[in-house]
Amino acid sequence: MRILGIETSCDETAAAIVEDGTKILSSIVASSQKIHVKTGGIIPETAAREQIKYLIPVINKALTQVFGKPPSLRPKPSPLSPKPYTLNPGIDALAVTVGPGLIGSLLIGVETAKTLAYLWQKPIVPVNHLTAHLYANWLNPKPYTLNPTPFPAIALIASGGHTDLLLMRGHGKLKWLGGTRDDAAGEAFDKIARLLGLPYPGGPSIAKEAEKFAIGKLDDLKIKLPRPLMNEDVFDFSFSGLKTAVLREVNQLKTMKQFNNEAVGKLAFEAQEAIIDVLVGKTIRAAQKYKVKSIILGGGVTANQRLREKFKLSLRPTPYTLHVPPVDLSTDNAAIIASCAFFNYHPVSWKTITANPSLHFE
Ligand code: KG4
Ligand code: ZN
Repeated sequence: MRILGIETSCDETAAAIVEDGTKILSSIVASSQKIHVKTGGIIPETAAREQIKYLIPVINKALTQVFGKPPSLRPKPSPLSPKPYTLNPGIDALAVTVGPGLIGSLLIGVETAKTLAYLWQKPIVPVNHLTAHLYANWLNPKPYTLNPTPFPAIALIASGGHTDLLLMRGHGKLKWLGGTRDDAAGEAFDKIARLLGLPYPGGPSIAKEAEKFAIGKLDDLKIKLPRPLMNEDVFDFSFSGLKTAVLREVNQLKTMKQFNNEAVGKLAFEAQEAIIDVLVGKTIRAAQKYKVKSIILGGGVTANQRLREKFKLSLRPTPYTLHVPPVDLSTDNAAIIASCAFFNYHPVSWKTITANPSLHFE
């Protein structure tokens, strides 16, 4: 089964065609990230406007890569048929992110997908963006890496807007265990980067500075940042205190005229360690409590190399199999949307699909 996935929840505009939930036939991602670098973060209105510009060309490109030429997106008038359009684009169904995300951005993808489903008379599957992040683990370049079944599993989703821990007993069998009480892990990276004068998106910027610091610089700054809620018996997260702790350090260093490149490197390193320690610690604790077979990671923050390394090191003497998505599939793309729709195939009438910016887990 070939599904055309459409993703527009934030600042990426993406379309992909995936076969049987695992084989990527095409995957196109356009991003308005460069524009947001100038403003140090996303302005929702700007992101939505960029979605409008990119979406049709991105869908066309995804279809062209697989089928040679793009189908016309305009309805053909036909006096013989009440149906407005008959051309078969070569796909079996559509899938679209309905939430969570920025309302303006979501609406562009949802309304476009609905229109295409109507024109092409194809089934359409509404997809939860967060659940979809986990399906990066089922995709190329290592198809079927999760066979035999990895369930039950603990799933950690860490993205720009969310940090959630779930018990996954099977496809569509998710139990939410906890999430962030304030800032998400990605948001913490982004906000701390801003405090340190590093460019958006903060995750990759902090990772780069932390790596530079780790190899070589003299460590004579005594900075220790908190690991919020790490040792408490809850599966919730809280990262806003960490951001405040960094702000305090920055202000102090500025007063002492010591806020230089080395200090930025040290703070980036410490902040990254703190965020990762909490994510790894809580995930392993959940795995122990629920006696699962594996741990599945998803979301933009899981692109972080240090996080991957710390998970591997911490899991070495444990019985859990770790599933980490390919780096380019960790951040937003549409292949994960199509894959999620295949493994959770519940098509609905295009008339009933609506964008839901605060969609949670079912
Ligand atoms: O999943 P994603 O692409 O979009 C959302 O659904 O939010 O995640 C974006 C987030 C941003 O906050 C970004 O700073 C973070 O993922 N991120 C990283 C890395 N790459 C992206 N965080 C830490 N290390 C990275 N290498
Ligand atoms: Zn995402």
